[in-house]
Amino acid sequence: MSAAGGPRALSPPDIGARKGKTPLVCLTAYTTPVAKLVDEHCDVVLVGDSVGMVLHGMSSTVGVTLEMMILHGKAVRRGLQSAVMVVDMPFGSYEESPAQAFRNAALVMTETGAAAVKLEGGESVAETIRFLTARGIPVMGHVGLTPQAVNAFGGYHIQGRGEDAERILRDAMAVAEAGAFAVVLEKIPEALARLITQEIAIPAIGIGASPACDGQVLVVDDMLGLFGTFRPKFVKRYAELADAANAAIAAYAYDVRERRFPAADHVFSDEPSTVSGGEDT
Ligand code: KIV
Repeated sequence: MSAAGGPRALSPPDIGARKGKTPLVCLTAYTTPVAKLVDEHCDVVLVGDSVGMVLHGMSSTVGVTLEMMILHGKAVRRGLQSAVMVVDMPFGSYEESPAQAFRNAALVMTETGAAAVKLEGGESVAETIRFLTARGIPVMGHVGLTPQAVNAFGGYHIQGRGEDAERILRDAMAVAEAGAFAVVLEKIPEALARLITQEIAIPAIGIGASPACDGQVLVVDDMLGLFGTFRPKFVKRYAELADAANAAIAAYAYDVRERRFPAADHVFSDEPSTVSGGEDT
């Protein structure tokens, strides 16, 4: 049984076993209602540290804390029945030593009920991944553009072009050999993503890494079009919810100013309702 715990619950080994099979579907979630929406359709639900930028207005993920990840992890857990829940380890919570990583990953898992954690980095975190997996903590890796290293990269630039491809390949192989059950490949060229996917024995889950991968992940708010202006090339918008929300809020503001809302249907009378599901609800 996975941490999701429902009758159809998937586990990290189930995800690992999907290498080269039907593409894995993964989305982020940070709240219970969104977790409920994505659970039915996803194999993996990631409580990404992107929560800092998406929900908290931070300019990068660097300031995201363990407390934030635990709070959002708990919320997401309440909405899941079947998908494998993975929680991101935030910047500063795992890089110092394998022991630090174990202490914090164990806290995340016991507090949130997550089935696995995700760490950014390749060769530099391989020893830590080995340490965690040997002690019962399933790990998802993350190589290529690793957003927690935005300051070192000098921006959110594509990684692995030209001679740099060798570095990303080494990172992905190190993560796989260290025992990760899957690895995210972020913002790398298609040819490199294809090569890595062929070379490693675990599923490669792409974001801006082409359809050559074993699966795909997106930030749910991006694919729902909840941001008016943020349009990275690798995101396909499946809805324009920011536009729909803007129109709804404008209509509400108009109705309030024109005294069209609340209307009779939304107003309580002095008498209790006799109709079930009626005016008192
Ligand atoms: O934090 C996040 O949402 C992620 C995904 C973009 C892979 O790491």
